[in-house]
Amino acid sequence: MENSSEISFEIRKSFLNFFKKNSHKEISSSSLIPKDDPSLLFTNAGMVQFKNWFTGDEKPKYQDVVTIQKCLRVGGKHNDLDNVGFTPRHHTFFEMLGNFSFGGYFKEQAIDLAWKLLIKEFSMDKNRLIITVYNDDEFSYNIWKKISGFSDSQILKISTEDNFWSMGESGPCGPCSEIFFDNGDGLSGGLPGSNNQDGERYVEIWNLVFMEYEKINGQLKKLPTQCVDTGMGLERITSLLSNKTNNFETDLFEYIFSEIERLAGIKKNNDNITSFRIISDHIRAINFLLSEGMLPSNEGRGYVLRRIIRRALLHSYKIAPRSLILHKLVGSVIKKYSKVYYELEKTNLFIEKNLKNEEEKFFDTLDAGIKLLNKEIRKVKGNDFSADLAFKLYDTYGFPVDMTESILSEKKMRLDMTEYNKIVEKSRLLHKKTWVGSGEVKIDKVFLEMKGQLNSTKFLGYDFAKTTSTLKKIIYNGQFKNSAKTGLKDLILVFDSTPFYAESGGQVGDSGKLLNLKNKEICKITDTKKIDGDIFLHFVKKIEISLKVGSKYILAIDESRRDKIRNNHSATHLLHESLRQVVGRHVSQSGSLVNDGKLRFDYTSNKQLTEKQIFSIENLVNNSIRSNLKTAINLMPVKDAIESGAIALFGEKYPEKVRVVSMSNETPSDIISSKELCGGTHVRSTGEIGSFKILGDFSISSGVRRVEAITGEEVQIFFNKKLKLLNEIKDFMKASDENLKDKIVNLREDYSKLKKSTNQQKSIFSNEKIIQMKDLDIYYDNLKCLPKELKNNSDAIKDKFKSGIIVLVSNDKKKVSVVVSLTKDLIKNYDSIEILKRVTSFLGGTGGGGRRDMAQGGAPYSDKVSDLKNFLTKLFDV
Ligand code: SER
Repeated sequence: MENSSEISFEIRKSFLNFFKKNSHKEISSSSLIPKDDPSLLFTNAGMVQFKNWFTGDEKPKYQDVVTIQKCLRVGGKHNDLDNVGFTPRHHTFFEMLGNFSFGGYFKEQAIDLAWKLLIKEFSMDKNRLIITVYNDDEFSYNIWKKISGFSDSQILKISTEDNFWSMGESGPCGPCSEIFFDNGDGLSGGLPGSNNQDGERYVEIWNLVFMEYEKINGQLKKLPTQCVDTGMGLERITSLLSNKTNNFETDLFEYIFSEIERLAGIKKNNDNITSFRIISDHIRAINFLLSEGMLPSNEGRGYVLRRIIRRALLHSYKIAPRSLILHKLVGSVIKKYSKVYYELEKTNLFIEKNLKNEEEKFFDTLDAGIKLLNKEIRKVKGNDFSADLAFKLYDTYGFPVDMTESILSEKKMRLDMTEYNKIVEKSRLLHKKTWVGSGEVKIDKVFLEMKGQLNSTKFLGYDFAKTTSTLKKIIYNGQFKNSAKTGLKDLILVFDSTPFYAESGGQVGDSGKLLNLKNKEICKITDTKKIDGDIFLHFVKKIEISLKVGSKYILAIDESRRDKIRNNHSATHLLHESLRQVVGRHVSQSGSLVNDGKLRFDYTSNKQLTEKQIFSIENLVNNSIRSNLKTAINLMPVKDAIESGAIALFGEKYPEKVRVVSMSNETPSDIISSKELCGGTHVRSTGEIGSFKILGDFSISSGVRRVEAITGEEVQIFFNKKLKLLNEIKDFMKASDENLKDKIVNLREDYSKLKKSTNQQKSIFSNEKIIQMKDLDIYYDNLKCLPKELKNNSDAIKDKFKSGIIVLVSNDKKKVSVVVSLTKDLIKNYDSIEILKRVTSFLGGTGGGGRRDMAQGGAPYSDKVSDLKNFLTKLFDV
């Protein structure tokens, strides 16, 4: 093939077409995150999605298949991260072209097909190929001889594990035969199997694995049938067919180089080429991981993603310090791949936004790290920098060691890298121990067995609430039973068809009843789940009538519960679309739960919804409900569905034909239209939802928020409760709708004034204000308070004052107010009114009035008030 900007695209096409012509079924790539396989960090080969087909745990759906699989080799047995950028052909993310046979053809046809593709379809020069086989695989050796006509020197027998392929510590494995390409003696490197085999001269292009064993706890067990698993890296074959010796010089990378040059304003050259390569490799891995909804984090898979991002960022920092270019590369990568992985297009904003976040965060770290490092450097005496400190900088602050090293070397300082690597290794082992897998549950053996024996359960619940179905399996205690006696507990039942929706897509499973053909209740069905999307499991607590496999029964769902679930599910779609309109198109779903009580929608965002946004979302959803939009449900090819604008979930592998649920509206803009890929049950028209109310918006983890909401009758119950409470408050406040708010405001104001003055009163008493006379004590104070507060203050002082006469005054520039009071014990001998008269006349006033125990009055202001204390002393000095 000649150089062309899309040579990789042509290779993918010819590869698939060749095998399809040879009766292989094309299967799309599975996710980078292996499903139901906690033993593996990421999908690292084409065979991963077929693991159970190899082992016989699951019956293969097709005998011969062909795939192009997204792979990532950044952890576990196959880890290429540290080589990336330094060799011509190591990558984190790559695509693997592969053909497989599960009990169909074996060595002879696998070799024949490979040969035909390379020589006939790809027109490769056979004289530049070298073959390896496992040393005792005489059979393959002879087949190769026959098919290629090669001499002994072109078919090498190799005994090392290079020619025995295994997926990981456990799983299917077998001897392999590899095809190498000779780049010519201009390049260094020895023949495969020789000591210097890792040079650039001989490149492995295709690995044909003859799967015959399964590794279990280090032991090899024969597989039930012989299988074929082949893998050819797209990047390598593209390089060869483009007449290049370096993968980075192909159309798969060159466009990224140009983008980096444009964004960084710098040309690639010998000094920065490694950084260019690392960035262009990593940005592809970052794109694909984020496109599956994965976010960088501090553990497990998210941690690996964070490391890849940071490594890329460090190199972008090296070539363009202070400018964030990484997220700006996203668009071009998506453009390049969306012809093949059409789901990527939709994820553009999500990837860009999250990558930008991470970039910004890490740039701060880099800055902080550089400052910290400089501070530490100043403290160091001599030229050696501590490896512990370098590791701490890396581990705690994420400050990469190569950065530390390069800064140190500018300052002519040293870092003992051997010591540093030892520390890293120690921590790596620690980290490895904490990686216990993805947390997914491996499918139970009994379920896998069943998958081989049964057809998929027919789901009739979109149209029927009740069906008559045949009982196919009874599972009790992890075992199959042919019948079950009355009284038996905790069973799982499988039927040929069912109206029960099985938990999926966030929607909970249906509950209901199982009846016999005479309509007598046998048991309640408490929940429904499914295995691998296919076989529906009905969970039962206890049966009241015996059951027999092969007999017919009536399955009836709890319709009113289902209606509520259905309302909530449809409302979730409207909520999703409204969030995208109000918060931004980058919002993407990261989980949901729909049950009969409420709906929960998790979405990616860093900011709490404002009250205004909540109102807008509620308005959009309720307007759409009131407009009674018709729900349309269509089955269509996934590609068409996504192209038509339907929302799909990241990282989800959809079947070829998908169900698209639309609630649409042509006009006006305050009514939203929703279109989503969804297998759930939905309203016929949105009016059935009745009403929608958001209960709250909470943060559930970094960058992910959760909206909780209710619909229909629940909204009525919610508002009734609120109204009841409101009425109770009105009764209590003796208020009407019109004045309730004012009354509460007044009450609060009065309360806070009262509290303030009580506090003042409490703190007003002071021993220093007591004048001790021979026979009695006088409490005198000139307070800075309002005249009307004097009386309360006097009472407060009386509470603390054992026995005596209290005279309190307060004055402004015009008048002096006076309150005189007595403690109880003095009432017999003294009269407040009399004392008040003496005081006011001293001040030049005319007295006042009151009772014997308390009197108040006043006088025009005069500076005599400052003499009042003396006056009182004299008055009572008898
Ligand atoms: N599983 C083998 C590999 O990854 C062949 O596909 O090389």
